[in-house]
Amino acid sequence: MIQVENLTKRYAGHTAVNNISFEVGKGEIVGFLGPNGAGKSTTMRILSAFLPATSGRARVAGYDVFTHSLQARRHIGYMPENVPLYPEMRVDEYLRFRGKLKGLHGRRLRERAAEVKDLCNLREVDHKIIGTLSKGFRQRVGLADAMIHEPDLLILDEPTIGLDPNQIRQVRDLIRNLGKHHTILLSTHILPEVEMTCSRVLILNKGRIEASDSPQNLLSHLRSAGSLHVELKPGGDDAESLLRSLDGVKEVVAKPAGEWMSFRLRTDAESDPRESIHRLAVDRKWPLRELSRARATLEDVFVEITQSDDA
Ligand SMILES: Nc1ncnc2c1ncn2[C@@H]1O[C@H](COP(=O)(O)OP(=O)(O)O)[C@@H](O)[C@H]1O
Ligand SMILES: [Mg+2]
Repeated sequence: MIQVENLTKRYAGHTAVNNISFEVGKGEIVGFLGPNGAGKSTTMRILSAFLPATSGRARVAGYDVFTHSLQARRHIGYMPENVPLYPEMRVDEYLRFRGKLKGLHGRRLRERAAEVKDLCNLREVDHKIIGTLSKGFRQRVGLADAMIHEPDLLILDEPTIGLDPNQIRQVRDLIRNLGKHHTILLSTHILPEVEMTCSRVLILNKGRIEASDSPQNLLSHLRSAGSLHVELKPGGDDAESLLRSLDGVKEVVAKPAGEWMSFRLRTDAESDPRESIHRLAVDRKWPLRELSRARATLEDVFVEITQSDDA
């Protein structure tokens, strides 16, 4: 559905997207994950034919988004980062206006407006002025707008940004439902978001793709490396250095918790240094209240990937 080859975008000397290539197959829900400034929005704007690339190629549904942008756009429903709604319009009026811009008219326009309002649960605000709606409703109006011309691909830029937890859950459910009949590329800097919604994750960092895999595979890759959670009271000892000197310990991240210290240890895949940690604690007379394997999160994957890039 999406084919990107060696895509680069430079803004006045600054490279926002640096020679990236990826594909998104029909029916996939792909999460575009990366910190602020990674180049997510830039890539999505290029794919939606709103922004020309500096070099490289991008195709949607087989159409080059630069040379055949009209054909490509017919397949794309794009929800930009800041949904550009008209605050003085009513929801119904706005959706019809947007539908017309996208080539719908007459009965087809009325039918589609009704369908997207049902899909996005907008019936109750049909005649409300957009400017008076909550952020959650406005976001759903943006989604309805993106879908009104029946695109098979949805490109959603941070669809849950600025929403409260309840609204986030609603939008997330909606996206998962849409994923049954659409290909979706959505961006986010919130990790649990992709874990809950996406079949595949592309991790973007400083304009480059650092990883592309299912959330499950990214996690199991990391789990094999192993991670421990330790909490103890080190008194005057430098527990961090002592822990780091143990066999099998690759990295120690310390976090003070009052008199207690909390440590996150990364270990070799083969080794389990829990026994030596216990012995060390007994030797040094450190009270020990936690010594457990930590469940790896996508956040760990993300930190590992984006940090190893700095090294
Ligand atoms: N119109 C622009 N002019 C100049 N630089 C820009 C422009 N838009 C984005 N950038 C820069 O490009 C980089 C990528 O931005 P963006 O694609 O918005 O990242 P993300 O969506 O991942 O936060 C950032 O460093 C940003 O400052
Ligand atoms: Mg962005």
